[in-house]
Amino acid sequence: MKTASHSSPHLHFVAKGGKRPAADALVVPFWKGKKHPEQASEKTFHFPVIDLTLESDDFKGVEGELLTVYLTGEPEKRVILLGLGDKSKVSLETLRRAYAALTKICRQKRYTSINIALPKVSSLSEHENAKAVAEGLLLINYHFSKYKTKALENSLEPAFLKNVSFLGLHHGAGETAVKEVQKVCEGVYLARDLVNDNADFVTPRHLAEVAKQLAKDYPKLKTTVFDKKRIEKEKMGLLLAVNRGSAVEPYFLIIEYKGDPKSKDHTVVVGKGITYDTGGLNIKTSNMETMKCDMGGAATCLGLMKVLGELKPKVNVTAVIPTTDNAVDAHSYKPGDVYPSYSGKFVEMTNTDAEGRLILADALSYASRNLKPTRLISFATLTGAIDIALGSEATGLMVTDDKFAEKLIAAGEASGERAWRMPLFDDYRDRLKSEIADIKSWNGRAAGASVAAIFLKEFVENAPWAHFDIASTAYIPEAKRYLPKHGTGVGVRLMIEFLNKV
Ligand code: BES
Ligand code: ZN
Ligand code: ZN
Repeated sequence: MKTASHSSPHLHFVAKGGKRPAADALVVPFWKGKKHPEQASEKTFHFPVIDLTLESDDFKGVEGELLTVYLTGEPEKRVILLGLGDKSKVSLETLRRAYAALTKICRQKRYTSINIALPKVSSLSEHENAKAVAEGLLLINYHFSKYKTKALENSLEPAFLKNVSFLGLHHGAGETAVKEVQKVCEGVYLARDLVNDNADFVTPRHLAEVAKQLAKDYPKLKTTVFDKKRIEKEKMGLLLAVNRGSAVEPYFLIIEYKGDPKSKDHTVVVGKGITYDTGGLNIKTSNMETMKCDMGGAATCLGLMKVLGELKPKVNVTAVIPTTDNAVDAHSYKPGDVYPSYSGKFVEMTNTDAEGRLILADALSYASRNLKPTRLISFATLTGAIDIALGSEATGLMVTDDKFAEKLIAAGEASGERAWRMPLFDDYRDRLKSEIADIKSWNGRAAGASVAAIFLKEFVENAPWAHFDIASTAYIPEAKRYLPKHGTGVGVRLMIEFLNKV
């Protein structure tokens, strides 16, 4: 299960004016300046080499700009001048991006230890400031290297940051924030590893094992695993239909975290756990090679539960994960056939590639009827249509309640995991009218993401519901800002942000 695809660096906190440890580089931040950029850190470093560099006009302090100069007689071999951009436009996101740009260069140059002089930002609290810097550093300190023999020890490959010292941070809000970020990133890394690994390794059984391991690692987590027999007994007909073509058994996972046992408030997250999506008999004709990402929703839920186990916040959260692959076989469920759902409604399957909504439908009805949710939130790599609409710049969000939507969008803004609201008009339901069953699963391309969501809504009972279509954000073809190539772990940080304010 250990994939060694990242390395959480050792974090050190040096008190104000304290002795700096030896390091490959000292990082000094600067605001963009018309004439000369202005040093942004509280402890100003007056090395003549910095003044000379600024005089030269070679460095302007543009966001993410980097310039390395060499030092003697200091604990660090070099100073890296890091541009933070316009002082008046600084935000959590600009800090994340600037420190991710720094980390990328350090990794390429194989600088593994850095001393960081934190910027002083008057519009942000010490907690927010340190948090954004740490996120920029840690989110990009990741590479899925399980199948690269000795790659990361090879001198031509990027290294990981191994030691990061935060200068001037000691026993305060900033130190707490950085330590929290490290724990959150461990959850993000877990989600990414699960998405990035082989579909034949990350099977439904593997997801069940990860869920059980979480309960062993964290006393506040409890995992319940339904095997195929139990799924049959529960009559989860849609999960069973999708699993018909599979060589392996489906699982239904329930992971409970009770951080506030006295409260009835209960957030239930549901994650799509399709470990591989061939499309089924409506076999995919393109992009199948990325379909190991189709358990991205499940990965988000597992990553989130790990973070809750680590941080132990005062909230109650349960994750529900239906999991199977969607495979081709003589037993596969067939386009045109009708299957019963857990809810009792019958579904005409019009396209076997619309499998995600089927397994989620059973999970949403199960959660509604058995788990007493205050709110339900689903995460799923559900439709190619959301990629057409939004690309990887935002996750699609469909919500039944405006206040709830506002809070989730705010959590997306704060975390940098942007969510964009998409319509959930009742009128879309008309497209799913079936002649022979209660509802059909699919009706063509138009408004694909919203129609998928309106299908899901049919199976939600008595609780506000939000649905994140992460098909364009859970897996990206190229690295971007603080996100590495492929699995991103999207949703984990948004949910932590949201749960902090419930
Ligand atoms: N797993 C896919 C959606 C997807 C697309 C995820 C791209 C990640 C990246 C989903 O099960 C699917 O196949 N959707 C089809 C829906 C259609 C046949 C109903 C799609 O969006 O093309
Ligand atoms: Zn599909
Ligand atoms: Zn799918």
